[in-house]
Amino acid sequence: MTPDTLKDLVRTVPDFPEPGIQFRDITTLVGNGPGLAATVNHLARMARDAGAEAIAGMEARGFIFGAAAAVELELPFIPVRKPGKLPVATIGVDYALEYGTDRLEIDPTSITDDQRVVIVDDLIATGGTAQAAVQLLRMAGGTVDDALFVIDLPDLGGARALHDAGVTVSALMQFE
Ligand code: PRP
Ligand code: ADE
Repeated sequence: MTPDTLKDLVRTVPDFPEPGIQFRDITTLVGNGPGLAATVNHLARMARDAGAEAIAGMEARGFIFGAAAAVELELPFIPVRKPGKLPVATIGVDYALEYGTDRLEIDPTSITDDQRVVIVDDLIATGGTAQAAVQLLRMAGGTVDDALFVIDLPDLGGARALHDAGVTVSALMQFE
């Protein structure tokens, strides 16, 4: 299935979670078996081409695609978690979202020094989430040069900002 076909499987819900937001909902994409498999297959190929030694995914939607791509490549998966979930000493970064603020945390021992970590998430909007993840993974000693997304919302500038932070950004589809 091509990325153009996969784009047709993403549902757009207006005014969620706030008025004015066009929510790009992957529930319908992951609810289509061949669509889910093709999406994961594209991401795994891109991660392999980027030389991934580990895949990091952001809770929660990034876990779906990141863990599946890691399984396909038989690579370790690094969970980048929302606050208060990890039972060990963490490092964390606060960040702004298209709607609201949040915080991400990792277990710094889940990364080995200079490990080549590729980030996978469902969507990049402002890039706040991805930039926080890059910062955390780099603080823990990882080499983070690549980030992969199913969906890019280019009007929100996140991919551009991440690129300016030294990360090569790739996405399967864009919604203007
Ligand atoms: C969504 C999405 C990305 C992030 C993108 O996650 O899955 O992680 O927002 O936005 P940004 O580029 O402006 O940071 P959300 O925080 O809504 O959490 P969820 O995965 O638990 O739904
Ligand atoms: N995360 C941040 N912005 C989003 C949007 N417009 N649709 C779906 N997820 C999002």
